[in-house]
Amino acid sequence: MDKVIVTGGAGFIGSHTCVELMAAGMAPVIVDDLRNSEERVLGGLEKITGKKPVIHRIDCTDQAALDRVFAAEKPGSVIHFAADKAVGESVADPLKYYHNNVGSLATLLRVMHRHRVNDIVFSSSCTVYGDSKDLPVTEASASGQAASPYGYTKVVCEQMLRDVSAADPHLRAVMLRYFNPIGAHPSGQIGELPIGVPNNLVPFITQTAAGIREKLTVHGDDYPTRDGSCIRDYIHVVDLAKAHVAALRWLSGRKAPVCEVFNLGTGQGNTVLEAVRTFEEVNGVKVPYVIGPRRPGDVVAMYADTTKSREVLGWKTELTLADALRDAWHWQQALGKG
Ligand code: NAD
Ligand code: WQD
Repeated sequence: MDKVIVTGGAGFIGSHTCVELMAAGMAPVIVDDLRNSEERVLGGLEKITGKKPVIHRIDCTDQAALDRVFAAEKPGSVIHFAADKAVGESVADPLKYYHNNVGSLATLLRVMHRHRVNDIVFSSSCTVYGDSKDLPVTEASASGQAASPYGYTKVVCEQMLRDVSAADPHLRAVMLRYFNPIGAHPSGQIGELPIGVPNNLVPFITQTAAGIREKLTVHGDDYPTRDGSCIRDYIHVVDLAKAHVAALRWLSGRKAPVCEVFNLGTGQGNTVLEAVRTFEEVNGVKVPYVIGPRRPGDVVAMYADTTKSREVLGWKTELTLADALRDAWHWQQALGKG
């Protein structure tokens, strides 16, 4: 069975990807020190897949430790999720972000090179498009003007992969630009585990519906959109996870060197108020909300042109916003029970 190193595999997107890798007959090997995830994810993975997940609890910036993992596991490929991702924190503590996000990729690429592992799928983000007026954004749209140090770590990592790929005739890299991943596994066994007060919309909605938060604040209703609230491309995390399997399969059929970027979204933009209404309708629960001021740094609208991922990777989303919001609520209820 093909062993795939999944850094950050205990996290939100990584854990769902481990499920899909196993369903596709691949063997994920998680590398995660659980700095932003919990032990219970491993139990959830075992319940879904019937197999105990393989995990190495190490820091991906620790080259010697990573080297030992590669020597022991002899993987065929890597998916690199491990990173810090809190946009606000990255403004307050940029070095933490450059050290972990840029440092872990540089370390990983060195170790891959030493062990002659050539295929890597990297988690990038639509944040690299900044405030694009080119909607829907295509992979050829201008990128590189991010809105935060976090965003710039993705810009730098993408460039690192391009540079290393230009220098190393064996490297095969795919960079996946995620739009807004939401939802949870339909089993209710794994999902997002936000720490403290959530910044992101959907965990805030589910916690408000559960009574953990009093009300949601919709950040602005005076944008030039159909109802005045911002537009985003919300993608179900299970659809997103499946794209990683498609990316690995595509890579394995390529001749090196390859360094390609793909948008992963639905291609559909929805407003904040549409997301709230859809959540209420599909789950039959109310989400009390107030309209607040615009949130600094928010772009008015962002959604993907998905032509390239559809035509090249043969991947497209199958689940709807309603599916994602139903699964997110199911997960919140499972969490509520502890
Ligand atoms: P997450 O925090 O749930 O998962 C990341 C995992 O990586 C965590 O389990 C954490 O413990 C681990 N980790 C972080 N640094 C590590 C290190 N140095 N060594 C070992 N483990 C480490 O985040 P996520 O939402 O699953 O995001 C996964 C990737 O996708 C990240 O690279 C993120 O930047 C990117 N991304 C996320 C979103 C989003 O909205 N969730 C959007 C675009 C891109
Ligand atoms: C979505 C919409 C908010 C919370 C972030 C990162 C981005 C990427 C994805 C990693 C916006 C509105 C939110 C709330 C609200 N991550 N909102 N009330 O900002 O599009 O993207 O996650 O790469 O880099 O910035 O996602 O979920 O925070 O916001 O009205 O309490 O919901 O203003 O319009 P965002 P989000």
